[in-house]
Amino acid sequence: MSLGGRFAGRQGLAVVGAEPVGPYTLLRLERGQLEPGIPGQFFMLEAPGRVLPRPMSLCQAPPGELAFLIDPIGPGTRALCELKAGRTVLVLGPLGNGFDLDLERPLLVAGGIGIAPMPYLAEALRHPPAVLGFRTERHAEAARLLPGATVVVEPRLVTDVLPHDPGDVLACGPEPMLEAVRALVPRAQLAWEAPMACGFGACYGCVVEIAGRYRRLCVDGPVLRDAA
Ligand SMILES: Cc1cc2nc3c(=O)[nH]c(=O)nc-3n(C[C@H](O)[C@H](O)[C@H](O)COP(=O)(O)OP(=O)(O)OC[C@H]3O[C@@H](n4cnc5c(N)ncnc54)[C@H](O)[C@@H]3O)c2cc1C
Ligand code: FES
Repeated sequence: MSLGGRFAGRQGLAVVGAEPVGPYTLLRLERGQLEPGIPGQFFMLEAPGRVLPRPMSLCQAPPGELAFLIDPIGPGTRALCELKAGRTVLVLGPLGNGFDLDLERPLLVAGGIGIAPMPYLAEALRHPPAVLGFRTERHAEAARLLPGATVVVEPRLVTDVLPHDPGDVLACGPEPMLEAVRALVPRAQLAWEAPMACGFGACYGCVVEIAGRYRRLCVDGPVLRDAA
């Protein structure tokens, strides 16, 4: 399927396993014919029993697999976390714009489930420094997916521990965290979130206002730089 000049595939992928990582679940799927794409791109996963698919960032791409780290916050994500080995999930992707990887001094910054795209991104950038923030120690168990990262737990925030000269920041996390990072590092690449129905520009369900401009996040993002 050609979407905006890029190629995304749609395929039923077998579940290899679903492993707990703190309060999250790492859902491992057979890769099939799908490309893992550029870090920061996302896939639409059909959740059993739900009409609309759910957007998920690729977390890891070991040989022959695609793995997604999922926070069970609602019915769709809970259904995905409960999948058992051998079940099949319909997956569309990779979609959207990923991170620009042509950087001199990358620094990864993530909050909560914003850690999801970081392991695959870290691998592509040859394991740069990373700063991770979590609400609780239990959520912080997910930091094991990014060995060597600086980890803070609330009330400390990732912005409390950013170096004075942070370099090329690539960030993913809740909106207030992204706004705070952008205030400190205006050139940071930020991966934003919005509820999505189609994932490829057709439904206008993901329109968000960022820095005074309306954007379809699935095709203009999810990674935006300079809020441009
Ligand atoms: C590009 C992209 C990548 C994502 N990657 C991941 C990932 O790797 N791991 C992960 O766990 N989640 C990720 N998400 C978020 C995930 O898609 C949603 O949490 C999921 O769709 C919620 O579905 P649900 O049926 O469980 O809950 P719902 O019942 O749909 O939603 C529960 C609550 O969350 C709100 N909500 C739902 N989706 C979003 C959203 N995208 N942004 C803000 N609020 C929302 C709803 O309004 C509602 O209040 C990503 C979202 C986007 C847009
Ligand atoms: S999710 Fe349909 S236009 Fe973005």
